[in-house]
Amino acid sequence: AIERTFSIVKPDAVGNNKIGAIYSRFEDAGLKIVASKMLHLTKEQAEGFYAEHSERPFFGALVGFMTSGPIMVQVLEGENAVLAHRDILGATNPAEADAGTIRADFATSIDENAAHGSDSLESAAREIAYFFSTEELCARTR
Ligand code: CMP
Repeated sequence: AIERTFSIVKPDAVGNNKIGAIYSRFEDAGLKIVASKMLHLTKEQAEGFYAEHSERPFFGALVGFMTSGPIMVQVLEGENAVLAHRDILGATNPAEADAGTIRADFATSIDENAAHGSDSLESAAREIAYFFSTEELCARTR
């Protein structure tokens, strides 16, 4: 089925000038960008987005990293988009990511891992709504 999923190009990859390279991975995989913007998250925004991790030991470092510079947030649309996106991202820890994946090629550590992708359709709906209004999501007519 055609799905929408949520993606972040994180501060490390933005800082390394890899926005375009990562967007090319999405497009080459057949995922269409239907919404996109640059943001510099506040501490409150980052804590809210990652609320499910608030009890984890890495939460403080995660929020510090995600607020360290601007990010790109985007909505990707395509067949089986949630899993298709996670396949091209690779494992959360780049040391475990398959060759040729975004994290294998652009990430340096589990903390600075270049990009985020929703892990389920339910997460995708919540994460898209966290950053985008419905009017910002564009129907791709061609
Ligand atoms: P992300 O997909 O954005 O979701 C939460 C982030 O926490 C994850 O990517 C990692 O960058 C970071 N993180 C740091 N340590 C861990 C860990 N042990 N398990 C999962 N995520 C971690």
